[in-house]
Amino acid sequence: MQQIKHANAIRGSITVPGDKSISHRALLFAAIAEGKTIIHNLSSSADVMSTLHCIRQLNIDAIVKNSEIEIEGTGKFGFKASRHPLDCGNSGTTIRLLSGILAAQPFTTSTLVGDESLSKRPMKRVIEPLTKMGAHISSEPGGFPPLVIHGQPLTPISYQMPIASAQVKSCVLLAGLYATGTTTVIEPYPSRDHTERMLRDFGLNVTTINTSVSIEGPAKLFGSEVVVPGDISSAAFFIAAALMVPDSEVTIKNVCLNPTRTGLLDVLQRMGGNISIREYETKSSEPIGEIRVTTSQLSGVEISPDMIPKLIDEIPILAVLATQAQGKTILSGAQELRVKESDRLRSIVTNLAAMGIEIEELEDGFIIEGPQKLTGASVDSFGDHRIAMAFSIAGLISKGTTHIKDVDCVRISMPNFYETLAKILIS
Ligand code: S3P
Repeated sequence: MQQIKHANAIRGSITVPGDKSISHRALLFAAIAEGKTIIHNLSSSADVMSTLHCIRQLNIDAIVKNSEIEIEGTGKFGFKASRHPLDCGNSGTTIRLLSGILAAQPFTTSTLVGDESLSKRPMKRVIEPLTKMGAHISSEPGGFPPLVIHGQPLTPISYQMPIASAQVKSCVLLAGLYATGTTTVIEPYPSRDHTERMLRDFGLNVTTINTSVSIEGPAKLFGSEVVVPGDISSAAFFIAAALMVPDSEVTIKNVCLNPTRTGLLDVLQRMGGNISIREYETKSSEPIGEIRVTTSQLSGVEISPDMIPKLIDEIPILAVLATQAQGKTILSGAQELRVKESDRLRSIVTNLAAMGIEIEELEDGFIIEGPQKLTGASVDSFGDHRIAMAFSIAGLISKGTTHIKDVDCVRISMPNFYETLAKILIS
């Protein structure tokens, strides 16, 4: 149980751990590349540790040296079958991306398992395209983990994705590395493009035309050096706190500013947030910079479905921000939130209601008319890291004390969340 009290101000300069999405990809690509990869500033999150653990189980050497990790890639077919199930923990990215690689491995069988939450998350979205490529995958009824994958030779596909999902896109592209010919994925809206950027860093030709991405297989990856920038999805909580808590000013340094991830910044600027962004000059394939935020008077906005992939993980904290904005905030097209680490729309609505907020729940979003006063209450994380962090920030602007149950889950994306908050909190 975490107790959070009303804050007087938050002030200072912080960094956040390495980006989780980029870290997963760095580990997986390094594992199947030829030659050595050095990764700097790898995310310390439990999710990324799940990926690290899985590649080690598949016989990949990964040596941690201070803040660096060195991986000796064994090439596309270098994995050795694991005698034990591969434990993906809470991590959707681990299970979905790894499935794309394992579907093409010639050794007999891989079993992918997850925790209680991951075991309820839909895997049909990867089973379907991989099966079209010739993969043999069995799952629990309804397409839930554990997944049992029998490696097969794969054929390329052109796959029109029913939903925008970087995890599905990446899974199919990774499988495409093993298929002879062109593999194409087409999304309804663009999702985060870290896979495309990093595949290029690892020596692959990737063609992007609007929302379609193609690669030519069979193709090899070559070891590279990856510097992981800070995770904007973790920075989001401190950005929100600085906007809402009076007399605040916070700078977050060394953050990934990839435009497929900065939808929250775009929306907050439209809401009237005082946010200044300075991009660093770097050779990195990911834009990086710093974000300075001061307390702001916000107004409600409408967030359309095409925006959702660019802020998919920031919606819990956006809902908290909407309670403080003048006028209506309407969010739609976010039905994907129902199948995240928790049913996030339900978690948001339940917790905001417990804190005295009137919110209309939609099948694919919510409507909040602000400003409304938050009252300290006892709320649940529902075992979901982003819900735990969003409602901890809500506690800073609530009357009285807020108690958040089961906050251990913050380790899934940001193990040092409360320590970082304590550094800038003026109570
Ligand atoms: C991720 C993609 C997103 C996001 C998740 C990480 C990734 O999921 O919600 O936290 O690393 O590719 P979807 O692409 O399935 O929406």
